[in-house]
Amino acid sequence: MADAVHTVLFSADQVKDRVSGLAAEIRRAYPADTTLHLVAVLKGGFVFLADLVRVLDRPVTIDFVAVSSYGAGTRSTGELRLRQDLHVPVGDRDVLVVEDIIDSGETLAWILKHVRAGGPRSLRTVALLDKPSRRTLDIQADYVGFTIPDRFVVGYGLDHDEQLRHLPYVAVLGGMPAEGEAMTAKASELSRPAS
Ligand code: IMP
Ligand code: MG
Repeated sequence: MADAVHTVLFSADQVKDRVSGLAAEIRRAYPADTTLHLVAVLKGGFVFLADLVRVLDRPVTIDFVAVSSYGAGTRSTGELRLRQDLHVPVGDRDVLVVEDIIDSGETLAWILKHVRAGGPRSLRTVALLDKPSRRTLDIQADYVGFTIPDRFVVGYGLDHDEQLRHLPYVAVLGGMPAEGEAMTAKASELSRPAS
């Protein structure tokens, strides 16, 4: 199947800069001798995790968790199911959940509850992307790369029907947005790095 038409939202360089910024925020938030236990949410979080660990400049341990959220469409089915559990016990670890994107918030809420049950010393979340307008739960990440409007995005780990995860940038699915639509604004005007 040919790759679907998509439009760049954040270039590879913009993503790289923002990931470095997030790493700096995270470094400032933990004592220098803290080993962070990064729990990446599969599959979408794998690219973000790979880039984040290489600029974090801190000792880290890594684990993965996978829950099903979306089927073949672009909207959540509302059903969450554990597909791959943690392999490393989180007890007494400083856990940082690494998410590609927070949409309704259901996935993050589920994962935080699951991790919290393991008794971590601390528990925070970093999300590369955040779509707050679609939230059904009152939940937010501690560190957010870019806040975006309600559009389906692909690339940098994010898929549409398992396609397009390999793109080195974040793109909006579809062609050029209709005139007057929010997406016609420059990416820098759409995004708000979290303070
Ligand atoms: P939530 O449970 O609705 O917050 O959805 C979170 C998960 O849905 C993310 O971890 C992604 O895997 C997926 N998702 C949400 N929005 C998008 C999108 O715009 N593109 C690709 N995947 C998305
Ligand atoms: Mg995901």
